[in-house]
Amino acid sequence: MQAIVDKEGIKRYLISLTVNGDTYTVVVKANTMLVNVLREELNLTGTKKGCETGDCGSCTVIMDGKPVNSCIILALEADGKEITTIEGVAQNGVLDKLQESFLNQTAVQCGYCTPGMILSAKALLTRNPNPTEHEIREAIAGNLCRCTGYVNIVKAIKEAAGQPVDEH
Ligand code: FES
Ligand code: FES
Repeated sequence: MQAIVDKEGIKRYLISLTVNGDTYTVVVKANTMLVNVLREELNLTGTKKGCETGDCGSCTVIMDGKPVNSCIILALEADGKEITTIEGVAQNGVLDKLQESFLNQTAVQCGYCTPGMILSAKALLTRNPNPTEHEIREAIAGNLCRCTGYVNIVKAIKEAAGQPVDEH
Protein backbone atom coordinates (compact mmCIF):
# COMPACT_ATOMS: atom_id res chain seq x y z
CA MET A 1 0.00 0.00 0.00
CA GLN A 2 1.42 3.34 -1.08
CA ALA A 3 1.31 6.37 1.25
CA ILE A 4 1.00 9.91 -0.10
CA VAL A 5 1.09 13.24 1.75
CA ASP A 6 -1.41 15.75 0.29
CA LYS A 7 -1.09 19.55 0.03
CA GLU A 8 -2.48 20.01 3.54
CA GLY A 9 0.10 17.61 4.94
CA ILE A 10 -2.47 14.83 5.51
CA LYS A 11 -1.25 11.33 4.91
CA ARG A 12 -3.37 9.31 2.51
CA TYR A 13 -3.04 5.77 1.22
CA LEU A 14 -3.56 4.15 -2.13
CA ILE A 15 -5.49 0.92 -1.69
CA SER A 16 -6.81 -1.61 -4.15
CA LEU A 17 -9.90 -3.72 -3.55
CA THR A 18 -12.10 -5.98 -5.64
CA VAL A 19 -15.80 -5.23 -5.36
CA ASN A 20 -18.36 -7.41 -7.14
CA GLY A 21 -15.59 -8.72 -9.40
CA ASP A 22 -14.18 -5.31 -10.41
CA THR A 23 -10.87 -4.04 -9.04
CA TYR A 24 -10.70 -0.43 -7.88
CA THR A 25 -7.82 1.71 -6.67
CA VAL A 26 -8.84 4.47 -4.28
CA VAL A 27 -7.09 7.03 -2.10
CA VAL A 28 -8.21 6.96 1.55
CA LYS A 29 -7.28 8.50 4.86
CA ALA A 30 -6.11 6.31 7.74
CA ASN A 31 -9.54 6.64 9.40
CA THR A 32 -11.76 6.16 6.32
CA MET A 33 -14.29 3.39 6.84
CA LEU A 34 -15.04 0.78 4.18
CA VAL A 35 -18.76 1.75 4.07
CA ASN A 36 -17.77 5.26 2.99
CA VAL A 37 -15.48 3.98 0.23
CA LEU A 38 -18.33 1.82 -1.09
CA ARG A 39 -21.01 4.50 -0.91
CA GLU A 40 -19.07 7.68 -1.65
CA GLU A 41 -16.14 6.62 -3.83
CA LEU A 42 -17.71 3.70 -5.72
CA ASN A 43 -21.31 4.96 -5.60
CA LEU A 44 -22.54 1.56 -4.35
CA THR A 45 -25.28 2.99 -2.15
CA GLY A 46 -27.09 -0.33 -1.71
CA THR A 47 -24.91 -0.78 1.37
CA LYS A 48 -26.80 1.15 4.04
CA LYS A 49 -25.55 3.15 7.00
CA GLY A 50 -27.49 2.99 10.24
CA CYS A 51 -25.75 3.11 13.59
CA GLU A 52 -22.13 3.35 12.32
CA THR A 53 -21.06 1.57 15.49
CA GLY A 54 -21.29 -2.07 14.40
CA ASP A 55 -24.64 -2.72 16.07
CA CYS A 56 -27.36 -2.79 13.38
CA GLY A 57 -25.92 -4.76 10.44
CA SER A 58 -27.40 -2.50 7.76
CA CYS A 59 -23.89 -1.95 6.34
CA THR A 60 -23.11 -5.71 6.04
CA VAL A 61 -21.02 -6.79 3.07
CA ILE A 62 -19.17 -10.03 2.41
CA MET A 63 -15.38 -9.68 2.66
CA ASP A 64 -13.28 -12.70 1.69
CA GLY A 65 -16.32 -14.93 2.28
CA LYS A 66 -17.33 -13.55 5.67
CA PRO A 67 -20.10 -11.08 6.49
CA VAL A 68 -18.67 -7.93 8.07
CA ASN A 69 -20.05 -4.61 9.26
CA SER A 70 -18.41 -2.24 6.79
CA CYS A 71 -18.93 0.74 9.15
CA ILE A 72 -16.32 -0.64 11.55
CA ILE A 73 -13.86 -1.95 8.95
CA LEU A 74 -11.15 0.52 8.03
CA ALA A 75 -10.69 0.97 4.31
CA LEU A 76 -7.02 0.10 4.94
CA GLU A 77 -8.13 -3.32 6.23
CA ALA A 78 -9.95 -3.94 2.94
CA ASP A 79 -6.79 -3.46 0.87
CA GLY A 80 -6.39 -6.52 -1.36
CA LYS A 81 -9.71 -8.02 -0.26
CA GLU A 82 -12.64 -9.39 -2.29
CA ILE A 83 -15.91 -7.75 -1.39
CA THR A 84 -19.49 -8.48 -2.40
CA THR A 85 -22.15 -5.83 -1.92
CA ILE A 86 -25.86 -6.14 -2.63
CA GLU A 87 -25.21 -4.77 -6.14
CA GLY A 88 -23.15 -7.88 -6.88
CA VAL A 89 -25.71 -10.45 -5.76
CA ALA A 90 -27.88 -10.59 -8.91
CA GLN A 91 -26.01 -12.05 -11.85
CA ASN A 92 -26.57 -10.79 -15.42
CA GLY A 93 -29.87 -9.22 -14.43
CA VAL A 94 -31.13 -12.44 -12.80
CA LEU A 95 -32.03 -12.12 -9.13
CA ASP A 96 -30.29 -14.40 -6.64
CA LYS A 97 -32.53 -17.07 -5.08
CA LEU A 98 -32.42 -15.13 -1.80
CA GLN A 99 -33.68 -11.98 -3.50
CA GLU A 100 -36.50 -14.04 -5.07
CA SER A 101 -37.38 -15.70 -1.79
CA PHE A 102 -37.41 -12.39 0.13
CA LEU A 103 -39.95 -11.14 -2.42
CA ASN A 104 -41.99 -14.38 -2.33
CA GLN A 105 -42.16 -14.42 1.47
CA THR A 106 -42.83 -10.68 1.86
CA ALA A 107 -39.67 -10.44 3.94
CA VAL A 108 -39.13 -6.80 2.95
CA GLN A 109 -41.04 -3.88 4.42
CA CYS A 110 -39.15 -0.56 4.53
CA GLY A 111 -36.17 -2.39 3.04
CA TYR A 112 -33.47 -0.64 5.04
CA CYS A 113 -32.16 -3.85 6.61
CA THR A 114 -32.62 -5.94 3.46
CA PRO A 115 -29.23 -5.60 1.72
CA GLY A 116 -27.35 -6.50 4.89
CA MET A 117 -29.79 -9.25 5.75
CA ILE A 118 -29.43 -10.83 2.30
CA LEU A 119 -25.63 -10.69 2.46
CA SER A 120 -25.55 -12.32 5.91
CA ALA A 121 -27.91 -15.00 4.59
CA LYS A 122 -25.83 -15.45 1.45
CA ALA A 123 -22.64 -15.95 3.44
CA LEU A 124 -24.50 -18.50 5.59
CA LEU A 125 -25.88 -20.50 2.64
CA THR A 126 -22.47 -20.49 0.96
CA ARG A 127 -20.78 -22.08 3.97
CA ASN A 128 -23.82 -24.13 5.08
CA PRO A 129 -26.37 -24.79 2.30
CA ASN A 130 -28.84 -26.57 4.60
CA PRO A 131 -28.92 -24.62 7.87
CA THR A 132 -31.25 -25.30 10.79
CA GLU A 133 -33.62 -22.53 11.89
CA HIS A 134 -31.32 -21.94 14.85
CA GLU A 135 -28.35 -21.50 12.51
CA ILE A 136 -30.37 -19.11 10.33
CA ARG A 137 -31.37 -17.00 13.33
CA GLU A 138 -27.77 -17.02 14.57
CA ALA A 139 -26.47 -15.90 11.17
CA ILE A 140 -28.79 -12.88 11.08
CA ALA A 141 -28.51 -12.07 14.79
CA GLY A 142 -26.39 -9.01 13.99
CA ASN A 143 -28.89 -7.67 11.44
CA LEU A 144 -31.61 -5.64 13.09
CA CYS A 145 -35.01 -5.31 11.44
CA ARG A 146 -37.48 -2.84 12.89
CA CYS A 147 -40.37 -3.85 10.63
CA THR A 148 -40.85 -7.55 9.99
CA GLY A 149 -40.48 -9.39 13.29
CA TYR A 150 -38.02 -11.70 11.45
CA VAL A 151 -40.54 -14.52 10.84
CA ASN A 152 -40.81 -13.90 7.11
CA ILE A 153 -37.08 -13.31 6.83
CA VAL A 154 -36.40 -16.74 8.34
CA LYS A 155 -38.97 -18.26 5.97
CA ALA A 156 -37.29 -16.56 3.01
CA ILE A 157 -33.89 -17.97 3.95
CA LYS A 158 -35.42 -21.44 4.35
CA GLU A 159 -37.05 -21.13 0.93
CA ALA A 160 -33.72 -20.12 -0.62
CA ALA A 161 -32.13 -23.16 1.03
CA GLY A 162 -34.76 -25.36 -0.67
CA GLN A 163 -36.44 -26.20 2.65
CA PRO A 164 -40.21 -26.52 3.17
CA VAL A 165 -41.72 -23.30 4.46
CA ASP A 166 -44.63 -23.25 6.88
CA GLU A 167 -47.22 -20.93 5.29
CA HIS A 168 -48.79 -19.97 8.64
S1 FES B 1 -24.24 0.94 10.19
FE1 FES B 1 -22.80 -0.62 10.43
S2 FES B 1 -23.56 -1.92 11.94
FE2 FES B 1 -24.96 -0.26 11.86
S1 FES C 1 -37.74 -4.18 6.57
FE1 FES C 1 -37.61 -2.29 7.65
S2 FES C 1 -35.91 -2.59 8.97
FE2 FES C 1 -36.22 -4.51 8.09
